[in-house]
Amino acid sequence: MALRIPLHLFLLIVPIYANLEGDALYALRRAVNDPENVLQSWDPTLVDPCTWFHVTCDAQNRVTRLDLGNAKLSGKLVPELGKLERLQYLELYMNKLMGLIPAEVGRLRSLVSLDLYNNNLTGSIPPSLSNLSNLKFLRLNGNRLSGRIPRELTKLGNLKILDVSNNDLCGTIPTSGSFSKLTEESFMNNSRLEGPELMGFVKYDVGGC
Ligand SMILES: *[C@@H]1O[C@H](CO)[C@@H](O)[C@H](O)[C@H]1NC(C)=O
Ligand SMILES: *[C@@H]1O[C@H](CO)[C@@H](O)[C@H](O)[C@H]1NC(C)=O
Ligand SMILES: *[C@@H]1O[C@H](CO)[C@@H](O)[C@H](O)[C@H]1NC(C)=O
Repeated sequence: MALRIPLHLFLLIVPIYANLEGDALYALRRAVNDPENVLQSWDPTLVDPCTWFHVTCDAQNRVTRLDLGNAKLSGKLVPELGKLERLQYLELYMNKLMGLIPAEVGRLRSLVSLDLYNNNLTGSIPPSLSNLSNLKFLRLNGNRLSGRIPRELTKLGNLKILDVSNNDLCGTIPTSGSFSKLTEESFMNNSRLEGPELMGFVKYDVGGC
């Protein structure tokens, strides 16, 4: 009898986040092709995703890191990733991911590092990323991203490294805020990019390009 209450508490309360976050991760597993079975341990019948390979959690069993760089994954990113509220490192570089960067990634308010470089991602850079106030490393280089660089990203006060080189971006390069410290290396090899916006001379053009 004495064991019953703790057991019920464990079954009903503790796994709520684990289930939510496990479901989000499992949505990613379903959306990608995984020829080398790096996601084999991502088993939704296990309550706690913190036991899965390439997943790191904090002391409260909340997911803080996903380390899936260079894992030969193809397929798409899923909006469910936005549910990993404590995620600090989203490392999915050097895969063959295609499709859009989900706007929901902008909900990951703990994110320090977003590394999606060297994939095959298309569409535009979501302006929602400007809500990631802890972000230090934003590397989206080596994809097929198009459209303008969202000017809202200049408000990312902690940004140390931005790399959007080797894409198909267009328009002018914002120069204010956190962008004032960046060099042209960050923007190279975007043949339709027009160069830095000239503050006070040329109005930032928000139209199509
Ligand atoms: C990128 O995606 C296109 C189709 O959308 C495909 O033709 C191309 O081979 C892909 N490139 C890589 C490196 O996977
Ligand atoms: C940033 O977050 C706020 C609050 O959740 C939201 O209203 C806003 O639309 C977000 N900004 C962008 C550019 O998505
Ligand atoms: C730009 O593209 C050239 C030719 O593909 C390459 O040699 C160079 O390293 C690229 N620059 C950057 C910053 O990636």
